[in-house]
Amino acid sequence: MSAAVAIVDANERTIESAAAALRDGRLIAFPTETVYGLGADATNARAVAAIFEAKGRPRFNPLIVHVASVELAAVLGHLTPAGSQLAAAFWPGPLTLVLAKRADCPIAELATAGLDTIALRVPAHPVAQALLQAASLPIAAPSANRSGHVSPTTAAHVEADLGKTVAMVLDGGAAPLGLESTVVDVTGEAPIALRLGAVPREDLARVLDRPVATASDGARSPASPGMLARHYATATKLRLEARAVHQGEALLAFGPDAPEHGGPMINLSASGDLTEAAANLFAALRILDASGAEAIAVMPIPDKGLGEAINDRLRRAARAE
Ligand code: TXA
Ligand code: MG
Repeated sequence: MSAAVAIVDANERTIESAAAALRDGRLIAFPTETVYGLGADATNARAVAAIFEAKGRPRFNPLIVHVASVELAAVLGHLTPAGSQLAAAFWPGPLTLVLAKRADCPIAELATAGLDTIALRVPAHPVAQALLQAASLPIAAPSANRSGHVSPTTAAHVEADLGKTVAMVLDGGAAPLGLESTVVDVTGEAPIALRLGAVPREDLARVLDRPVATASDGARSPASPGMLARHYATATKLRLEARAVHQGEALLAFGPDAPEHGGPMINLSASGDLTEAAANLFAALRILDASGAEAIAVMPIPDKGLGEAINDRLRRAARAE
């Protein structure tokens, strides 16, 4: 058994030591408003390589580089007009923009997997912001889970997945949004949502004043390289669109009309609120996955607003290998 990882309450002092660990080339996990990230100095190729090793990522998928401000983002990538509009509307926040990488971009090639584009995000979470300020570095950070597993929304989830491969986990409580950032490629003529996430597609469209296609709509795309079909997986099989629960199943419910169930059950939102459901999704999957049920029956979730991203995650988790 590996020793327990150091989970520490995020405060000025612990954030300063996390920043020092990053400058030393070590990995630390930190909260963002979406999910917990596994961070490394994005300019340090060895530190970035350690991220892939810790996660057990089978391939070198490009990582999101986190910066403190839109001005710092513009130093690393070319902000197009659509990118600027989206940045003004959603940064700091749960949006990632894929931009053309600047020629003098100091980010390690491995962080962008050798692409000529770079994914950038300005997170809003106060701990993430304080860490970026204290470190004065761009931080490469994927979700702090084992590759292919459910994203972590608490410090305990990070510990369960990554153990002592991280020098420190800054505990900032449960991630308030609970779904990863929405990734939008703004390098082309028309912006494309490569990954739906905490910013709903409708909100992108409202700001851009045009409909926004997703990679799965068949729009031009080398779909987000990290969007493997089977991702966010539980060990227990998921049965989607369930209107009744079978014997031996756990129930992942949604809304006020959940069927009666004596076995393990979690309601993502008894009032049918999609924001609450998104915040609860990954923790609920982890709990029901550990419940010993033969399968997890998942009630239908409306495919609008944040429901689109929730259903995307559930479909990926449900797909057989
Ligand atoms: O909410 C989030 O986005 C979290 C927090 C920690 O910021 N991070 C996260 O990172 O979810 P990760 O590595 O699990 O997902 C990054 C996604 C992947 O789907 C990856 O393929 C895509 O962003 N991506 C990164 N760089 C890209 C690029 N240059 N072009 C296209 N997609 C890119
Ligand atoms: Mg991830």
